[in-house]
Amino acid sequence: MKRRDLLYYGLSSWAACRVQSGLLPTQASRNAIAPISPDTSQVHPALSSQESTRSHPKPTLKQRAAAKNIIYGAECGTLSLAEEPDLAEAIAQECAMLVIGCLKWQYLRPTPYTYDFTYADGLAEFARQQNLQMRGHTLVWHIEQPQWFQEIVNPQNAERVLVEHIQTVMQRYAGRMHSWDVVNEAIQPQDGRSDQLRQSPWLNLLGSDYVDLAFHIAADTDPDTLLVYNDYGVEYDTADHESRRMATLNLLERFKTKGTPVHALGIQSHLVGDQSDFNPERFRRFLGDVASLGFKILITELDVIDQKLPANIQQRDRRVAQVYQEYLDVVLDEPAVIAILQWGLSDRHTWISQFFPRPDGLPSRPLPLDAELKRKPAWSAIAQAFDRSTR
Ligand code: G3I
Repeated sequence: MKRRDLLYYGLSSWAACRVQSGLLPTQASRNAIAPISPDTSQVHPALSSQESTRSHPKPTLKQRAAAKNIIYGAECGTLSLAEEPDLAEAIAQECAMLVIGCLKWQYLRPTPYTYDFTYADGLAEFARQQNLQMRGHTLVWHIEQPQWFQEIVNPQNAERVLVEHIQTVMQRYAGRMHSWDVVNEAIQPQDGRSDQLRQSPWLNLLGSDYVDLAFHIAADTDPDTLLVYNDYGVEYDTADHESRRMATLNLLERFKTKGTPVHALGIQSHLVGDQSDFNPERFRRFLGDVASLGFKILITELDVIDQKLPANIQQRDRRVAQVYQEYLDVVLDEPAVIAILQWGLSDRHTWISQFFPRPDGLPSRPLPLDAELKRKPAWSAIAQAFDRSTR
């Protein structure tokens, strides 16, 4: 099978699912998200001095994933790939999808009246030229709002501000996004509400229906993209994660009851290297419960926090690889899972070094490629998980 066929294979299976479930009504709309042919007339600055894809002796992660009907991809961890042609090349080589993670308010909204798409457009152009599918992160979140938000937004204008933001941002990339994280991290059982929603600025401004409102606007604005509810903290066999799993299922049921247009659950999957509470059966059951409610599943931000793992690099890398393998063996068994996406591809850029730095000051190593873009044991574990999967 050729590279383009493999890429299309992943996409078409998702489209087929949506046709079956009545989410994708026409051939025309399927065509609207078909992969774009690479444009060879202009080369993205990130790759201008290099070949766009170097031949590699071993099949790449995206090839192995596509063979199992899965889309593999990553957020790139940096706002611009133009200064890092080597990273850009690695992404083009390993990934079938680029997650545009700089579509947050704090990056897009310098003032209440203006938008700055510089970074997001740069990444979108890279994705276009490299024939990568794209997904957007994120339209509604409780943090990372610009300074002006608190000063300007009030219960009277909040709905208008939300509608205008979602419409403006989604329209810009309409027909080009495989999926969108429409609402991110709306659940927080510790906040003590009976609906287990987070006491967020949006909830305080608009009430709990803000979640449904956001999805309705999103569906009206770009009817051909997959609309995802994205959240974290559901992977482990702990009381906290159990309550978040229950809250997630309740929210998904609520979406169904209210007819809210949500197509998939995004499970962030920030795994923890020293955590021994992964219970394959319990997690498998959760994935099955989500699937039986009719939702697709995307693993959206996969990485392994190595903050408390041994300093020794071989031992550390081995444990990180083992965590990937245990997790993916369960995840890939669930037919509703359509994508495995990482929060960064290379240890060169990872939120973990900022948010979970190692006490010994050593660099974090949570991702499949090291800072020099060499494949690590984590890469092999992910590759083998795809190969082993019997889907
Ligand atoms: O760009 C500035 C830099 O100029 C400054 O020197 C530096 C000092 O702290 O900060 C830099 O900005 C940081 C930015 O990431 C770019 O690296 C911000 O402080 C930091 O808050 C911001 O963090 C991002 C975080 O979301 C909040 O937006 C992380 O990179 C990003 O990986 C993380 O992603 C989230 C997902 O959106 C949702 N799920 C969890 C995931 C990890 O926290």
